[in-house]
Amino acid sequence: MYGIVNKALEEMVCTRFGQPTWDKILRKAGLADEFFLSNEGYPDEITYRLVGASCEVTQLEAAPLLEDFGRHWVLETGRRSYGGLLEAGGSNLTEFLLNLPNFHARVNLIYPELKPPEFFSEALAPQKIQLKYYSHRPGLAHFVIGLLDGLGILFSTPVNVEQTKVRQSQDDFDQFIVWW
Ligand code: HEM
Repeated sequence: MYGIVNKALEEMVCTRFGQPTWDKILRKAGLADEFFLSNEGYPDEITYRLVGASCEVTQLEAAPLLEDFGRHWVLETGRRSYGGLLEAGGSNLTEFLLNLPNFHARVNLIYPELKPPEFFSEALAPQKIQLKYYSHRPGLAHFVIGLLDGLGILFSTPVNVEQTKVRQSQDDFDQFIVWW
């Protein structure tokens, strides 16, 4: 994944727990003194190792840690560095979620080697949207839950998210219902 992801994790950990905790995480992940460049590609395995070591060091389970990371990604990384992109995604939560399938096509212009997630969204009712999430990568459903929660906060429309299906294999998908 692009280094921006590892950098955002670092930023979240440092904000919440301080630099010494991040240094400990790097050592635990076998990456002592490593730093990440936003536009450089890194093996996915590095990101997974960082998440695993973050859980061990902070004593958080993977699910809440990934949800926190999703919220941080939208509300800090996104809002600060990709405000224009987020605005182009829609002017309210419904628009944004219905446009989500196209979102990473624009991200792709900034990050040409992106291996983006794939989303399919469908309105079930005026304030209820079903989302299917396909990925090249396993284990990131709770990251998506945090992202959706962050989008709710971004659009001042706090949401409920329920995962209604868990992906079972590489070509399978996770499914969520978002309502507010
Ligand atoms: C704020 C603007 C955003 C930017 C700049 C952005 C950029 C990226 C980048 C660089 C990656 C790493 C993929 C790679 O390097 O191959 C990524 C992954 C991902 N993004 Fe976004 N993203 C944004 C917003 C969102 C939103 C709003 C969602 C969904 C609600 C989302 C869902 C995901 C997911 C789930 C992944 C994990 C990768 C995977 O499933 O394979 N992103 N994004």
